[in-house]
Amino acid sequence: MRIAVPAETDPGEARVAATPETVKKYLALGAQVAVQSQAGAKSGIPDADYVAAGAVIAEDAMSVVADADIILRVRRPHPKSLAGAKRGAVVLAIADPYDQAEALQHVAETGVLLFAMELMPRITRAQVMDVLSSQANLAGYRAVIDAAAEFGRAFPMMMTAAGTVPAAKLFIMGVGVAGLQAIATARRLGAIVTATDVRPATKEQVVSLGAKFIAVEDDEFKQAETAGGYAKEMSAAYQEKQKALTASHIAKQDVVITTALIPGRKAPVLITEAMVASMRPGSVIIDLAVERGGNCELSKPGEVVTSENGVKIVGHLNVAGRLAATASALYARNLFAFAETLIDKSAKAVAINWDDELVKATLLTKDGGLAHPNFQTAA
Ligand code: NAI
Repeated sequence: MRIAVPAETDPGEARVAATPETVKKYLALGAQVAVQSQAGAKSGIPDADYVAAGAVIAEDAMSVVADADIILRVRRPHPKSLAGAKRGAVVLAIADPYDQAEALQHVAETGVLLFAMELMPRITRAQVMDVLSSQANLAGYRAVIDAAAEFGRAFPMMMTAAGTVPAAKLFIMGVGVAGLQAIATARRLGAIVTATDVRPATKEQVVSLGAKFIAVEDDEFKQAETAGGYAKEMSAAYQEKQKALTASHIAKQDVVITTALIPGRKAPVLITEAMVASMRPGSVIIDLAVERGGNCELSKPGEVVTSENGVKIVGHLNVAGRLAATASALYARNLFAFAETLIDKSAKAVAINWDDELVKATLLTKDGGLAHPNFQTAA
């Protein structure tokens, strides 16, 4: 059984899908592991560390995937980088399947089995495989660090001989995994933290982290959670009420971090141009939803823009990747945990249980076509 770890091809991707730690675990299952030269470089892992763990180094993308039974990726591979891969090879990646039917079809035509790690069900057994959580947690932390770096003032209150410095006011919009870590990190740095979400369950979590909860708590709010624990898209009337409440609050904030997402849809706009105009010069907005259309009207993917009134709006892409070493370590463990379920340990071979709910939920391509009911080519 051969496992391949190609280098990521997107120049904005610093993460890698296996670390020396997980290479050893694959070897313990009886696999051979090939890592493409320099695959770990941007995560601070030199080729020599993979070799020391027992991997072999492959010089190029073609040779690393040739003969592989399992191909470990961070992002969905371009079909070209699967040239030479075996039909039926397993590919594990953050596959970004939404509105990508054509691209998925091209991957399908290479004959691989592409699994989308972000579709992993959020059940207890699969927590260890939950890439959305492992990466969002780091993005939430990094968002606060980026905000602190962009903000021209201190976060904590300081009493000095030269007088008192007030604590920064920080508002977190969207309290999922990223938002909760952002609250915890901002509190550790001494900021005064408030937060909002459309899911009622978050109120208690916000308060337990020492922050204040701010939301329109009407009947719609009380019903606003899906069975999967995700946010629903709110009615236009609710969004208007929420906007009025948050508008006056945002005007008084030094930093706003937005993390609001609805799976499979464009991110909701929570900060309008007018709200940005109401903030003081030097304030900072970090938009973690920028890759999904953005929570702030003025954010631009991959850019830090300054509004006319001097508010910095930060739209970094792949924020978890800004902590590449930690993000890779956690992602690689998520992948190993899932890969292990696809392997028959006594036969030391890939053996997929097609009835496993984790397989059904994540498999996108099979036998040259699209396999997932939610991701089919439009007729
Ligand atoms: P996400 O990344 O899909 O969204 C981030 C947050 O934005 C969510 O809390 C969502 O409610 C909020 N949001 C959406 N629209 C909004 C709006 N208009 N205004 C304000 N906030 C808005 O969420 P994430 O981080 O993936 O977590 C979703 C849920 O899954 C949470 O309940 C989380 O605790 C749960 N979860 C469960 C796990 C498990 O049981 N294995 C593991 C990880 C998370």
